[in-house]
Amino acid sequence: MSEPLVLGIESTCDETGVALVRGRELLADVTASSMDEHARFGGIVPEVASRAHLEALRPTITAALDAAGVTLADVDAVAVASGPGLVGSLTVGTAGAKALALGLGVPLYGVNHVIGHAAVDELVHGPFPERFLALVVSGGHSSLLLVNDVATDVVELGQTLDDAAGEAFDKVGRLLGLPYPGGPHVDRLARQGDPAAIAFPRGLSKGRELARHPYDFSFSGLKTAVARYLEGRADAGEEYSPADVAASFSEAVADVLVTKTLRACAEHDVRTLVIGGGFSANSRLRELAAERCAAAGVEVRIPPIRYCTDNGAMIAALGSALVRAGVAPSPLDLAVDSSMALSLVSVPA
Ligand code: KG4
Ligand code: ZN
Repeated sequence: MSEPLVLGIESTCDETGVALVRGRELLADVTASSMDEHARFGGIVPEVASRAHLEALRPTITAALDAAGVTLADVDAVAVASGPGLVGSLTVGTAGAKALALGLGVPLYGVNHVIGHAAVDELVHGPFPERFLALVVSGGHSSLLLVNDVATDVVELGQTLDDAAGEAFDKVGRLLGLPYPGGPHVDRLARQGDPAAIAFPRGLSKGRELARHPYDFSFSGLKTAVARYLEGRADAGEEYSPADVAASFSEAVADVLVTKTLRACAEHDVRTLVIGGGFSANSRLRELAAERCAAAGVEVRIPPIRYCTDNGAMIAALGSALVRAGVAPSPLDLAVDSSMALSLVSVPA
């Protein structure tokens, strides 16, 4: 008998994603994004995102079913990201998922979006090892997870205490006068600069702060340091190199992320690292992770970028892992949870 067919719905932020997964095989993955509607505001407008989900959800479900060559009657389970995320956006996807599960008479799984960012790698690089570390970095999250079992046992080792890595890049992009979202622009500029030109601070990386927050991140002090540097040059009427600022800033972010992640690998005796989230596109993070992980004997798995930005495949992948593990489904009156704990893989029955 073939494995169950899981339909996954993602709607935590500005992407409406629907995917179909059978076992570890991705049959279809369709995404609609409302980013263009937010760009002129310089950030996601929650109300605009919610309305866009409402319009996109049904057509996206239909497009995914068509692309997979299946019908709703073939679906064996529905998974939806029920947190963390924007409450209005979450509500639209979750309401749709409940309606589908109820109408089709199949189980519903409310799953954790952040853990989905790690789970999707199984569709690309095959079954996970017994334990691994996941670094999930995007505009909304910067989390370090110890994954003992992706369906049942995830431990949050640390997260950002303020800005997410992508968010810090977007803010520095604004300081440098680059378009929103600034992350990719800062990355591109950084490649032409000197990463050692300016000594920007590494948050929570020394002394008592490091001891108290070994695996947490903080990027707001770094962003302020960049702002002070730029103000200092302007006040003094001095020229500066935007490429050097971008490169030195990128170096500080990548250095902290990789240093803390590798320390966690050593401490927990883990030999595999999965990196997910839209910020995994960052070129300096990729370079530094590849270089230092190779030296430390840690294998790095990074899914292709289309599976790192928010998508339905990550939610269907996690739903499929839950079904395989025999985890009980979530209740049909499942509530969305905008700050869902990272230790919660799925909402319990
Ligand atoms: O996962 P994602 O598409 O959306 C969420 O935030 O959930 O991540 C997008 C974030 C944005 O902050 C964007 O500026 C940043 O990741 N980003 C980058 C790069 N590509 C995307 N930041 C730095 N370098 C990049 N190459
Ligand atoms: Zn995400």
